[in-house]
Amino acid sequence: MGVPQTESERAQTLRAKIDRYNYHYYVLDDPLIPDSEFDRLLYELQQLEARYPDLVTPDSPTQRVGAKPLEAFAQIAHKVPMLSLGNALSDRELEDFDRRLTERLEVAGPIVYAAEPKLDGLAINLRYESGVLVEAATRGDGMQGEDVTQNVRTIPSVPLRLRESGWPDVLEVRGEIYMPTAGFSKLNETALANGEKPFANPRNAAAGSLRQLDPRVTAQRPLAFVCYGFGELSGGELAATHSAAIRLLPRWGLRISPELKCVAGLAGCQQYFQEIGSRRYQLGYEIDGVVFKVDDLQQQRSLGFVSRAPRWAIARKFPAQEEMTRLLAIDLQVGRTGAITPVARLEPVNVAGVTVTNATLHNAEEIRRKDVRVGDMVIIRRAGDVIPQVVRVAPDLRPTSATEFEMPTHCPECGSDLIKDGDGVVLRCSGGLFCPAQRKEAIKHFASRRALDVEGLGDKLIDQLVEKRVVESPAELYLKLTPELLAGLERMGEKSANNICAALEKSKETTLARFLYALGIREVGEATAHSLALHFGNLEGLMSAPVEALLEVPDVGPIVAEHIHAFFQQPHNQEVIAALLAAGIRWSEVETPRADQLPLAGKTLVLTGTLSRPRAEIKEQLQALGAKVSGSVSGKTDYLVAGTDAGSKLEKAKKLEVTVLDEEALENLLRTGGQP
Ligand code: IVH
Repeated sequence: MGVPQTESERAQTLRAKIDRYNYHYYVLDDPLIPDSEFDRLLYELQQLEARYPDLVTPDSPTQRVGAKPLEAFAQIAHKVPMLSLGNALSDRELEDFDRRLTERLEVAGPIVYAAEPKLDGLAINLRYESGVLVEAATRGDGMQGEDVTQNVRTIPSVPLRLRESGWPDVLEVRGEIYMPTAGFSKLNETALANGEKPFANPRNAAAGSLRQLDPRVTAQRPLAFVCYGFGELSGGELAATHSAAIRLLPRWGLRISPELKCVAGLAGCQQYFQEIGSRRYQLGYEIDGVVFKVDDLQQQRSLGFVSRAPRWAIARKFPAQEEMTRLLAIDLQVGRTGAITPVARLEPVNVAGVTVTNATLHNAEEIRRKDVRVGDMVIIRRAGDVIPQVVRVAPDLRPTSATEFEMPTHCPECGSDLIKDGDGVVLRCSGGLFCPAQRKEAIKHFASRRALDVEGLGDKLIDQLVEKRVVESPAELYLKLTPELLAGLERMGEKSANNICAALEKSKETTLARFLYALGIREVGEATAHSLALHFGNLEGLMSAPVEALLEVPDVGPIVAEHIHAFFQQPHNQEVIAALLAAGIRWSEVETPRADQLPLAGKTLVLTGTLSRPRAEIKEQLQALGAKVSGSVSGKTDYLVAGTDAGSKLEKAKKLEVTVLDEEALENLLRTGGQP
């Protein structure tokens, strides 16, 4: 069947548009159109090509996923060997590197280095001939790698054809294929939900995804690619410096690191290392250090190579995020709502600068899946301020004495039955406030800063009060605690005792939203407590509300409505509330404004950079004032809150002339309830 001229033209137009949008999205990080519009164009092209198969070209954006799975990967010999890098694990080693090079090059001034993050993925060589991607190979042993072309073609940030002109006839670019952390988390969540084994880290996930014989599987994985070097080039070098050559790549449609920078001498390297280190966990992808390369290619050539690595480059590594240690015991922690969490007690181990003695094991299912036994050597991973995790056990090092962990049937704190929760994975103590562990947690929550905010009433003190059976419920804080009684406790002076009693008195004057949050109803966080207070305006109406009435509250779904209803139906909870009111807790009934009267109603804020408090906390406070908190800056953004080291969002906000608030201004806004 012949292809009508107009259809052929339409296909060309669609391809050009799709390529352009892809380029803006992946290379410039500046999307021009919404995803839905992009999908529509791609769909139209697919339909057109299905109707007229003659229109299909190998580099059409529809041809990323090849036809059939492979039997095995073929081998590809690298025209230019793929080398490894020397490591510097300390400032001292970096200093030695710079001194060695300065001596060899016999230069007076500081050496200029091209610096960029060391991505934690896998190295790849892409070969373009006449601007068309013809081959993609893994590093392998450096001389010979595996042909993963089919799979690499599915990665959206890898162009199938180079843009514009001026590229060499043969262009081999080298870079890293990696999995951004957001995609990694999502992938693992899906794996867990389907009862599959999750990946240990983004690097394993990237490697596992690329080494799939069926490219349709790879196409489903959120992989990305960034260039940092070259292989074979026809016509020789592209520029006089490494950084200038790399900076040619984006115009041809190839991504480079937005962090690429030239720095001068050892001091410049050290500053860069510090700076990237401080943003390490905000980058959105995992890095294990930074790479410094002598920028001048003439100097590179004169330095040459030692064994398998260039003399002119070095990886300054961060301390490892994973370490091995022995699992001494598995304890069970009972949370505020009775949820039982197994916690690994570890032989102390330093992970990336912090001594770790505990790590979470999440639940019994996880212990079973990872086959964790007491006495095992386990790999502990800590990323940023995330709670340390037990990644896996080292089975080869398992001692014969290692014992399997058995989940008890009764609460370790109060002996009540443990019951399986909703999805059957979480175990919960059925003891409620009879359970001292839950009682402690409930009282801590009640007194916490964002609940009734009883200043000075710390966790240790509450533990003591519950253990000594002085206080058994939040109401008893008000009924039983006197300066005399408190002063008689361990580590408690007369002055602090008085202060705590004064703080208790002060906390009685509160708001309905705070009070509701303080009750610790399951799934009712600050934002929901606020919505409930706004919707009902008083406690009586809420307490007697049937599930249907609760469902009318914004943000309240069936599960939360059920929890709220069940909570207020419980005679015990009704007694606790009555006792609290009798103790003098009060709020004004008129103080709660309607949602559209909140000070930040209709305002959209975006948070970026490093802030000194958890984002979730700030977000909830802003929402409680009626604001919307969004993830990306657009024309609709009213304020951008920029912490330290804010990056592209800050730039965009400036471009769009969005008001930028620093942390001080933010705190002001929160304190004054909406006046920036
Ligand atoms: S340059 C001859 N730059 O690190 C120099 N490598 O240990 C070749 N890597 O296999 C490497 N980010 O997978 C270079 N910005 C970067 C890098 C980087 C990650 C990896 C690469 C290589 C390994 C070397």
